[in-house]
Amino acid sequence: MRVVVTAGPTREYLDPVRFLSNPSTGKMGFAVARAAAERGHDVTLIAGPVSLKTPKGVRRVDVTSARDMERAVKAALCGAGESDALIATAAVADWRPAMCAKRKLKKSQMESVLKLARNPDILKGAKGVRKVGFAAETDNILAEAARKCREKRLEFVVANDVGEAGCGFGTDTNRVSFVSADGSVESLPLMGKLAVARRIVRRLEGR
Ligand code: C5P
Repeated sequence: MRVVVTAGPTREYLDPVRFLSNPSTGKMGFAVARAAAERGHDVTLIAGPVSLKTPKGVRRVDVTSARDMERAVKAALCGAGESDALIATAAVADWRPAMCAKRKLKKSQMESVLKLARNPDILKGAKGVRKVGFAAETDNILAEAARKCREKRLEFVVANDVGEAGCGFGTDTNRVSFVSADGSVESLPLMGKLAVARRIVRRLEGR
């Protein structure tokens, strides 16, 4: 199948030298892309700004902002069908500065200038393919994941508790649960991100 994977953070610039972002390193998404390529799938990895090597056999597109990422996902999914998949691991910034100044803002301008606009939900907006989402939460993780699954019409959500040691941003391990729209849950033990990625790909293949 054709598999499109989003990974890493996005950057939302407010002037040429400042941006809003988050601590995502892209490790989980790069592991998913590697696992899918190892299984012989046609993989496009759409990566925000990260410093990781492209996995073998993976086509990579680098992007900066959420809107760049959305465009790249649409292009990569062009012509894709129901047997293809979008696996969205990226930590997309929910907001961007409403305007990006052409010149560096003065400190005194910040508070009066900084207004925010909502970014597009890339995963929710993708149509006609099977979709897997991620949910990183600190509270009510399983209920939130099931809600996301229904709202974004996903095959399943990979939920992880980012408040727990050894999980989430920048770590090499993760402890996740697969949550379906009906609320059913499969919980995995703490394992390496590549092992988690292989389980995700196998689960998608089996559906
Ligand atoms: O709603 P929430 O941001 O928690 O959803 C997380 C899931 O949605 C992740 O799979 C993430 O990659 C995806 N997402 C997206 N575009 C956004 C926000 C989240 O694709 N703007």
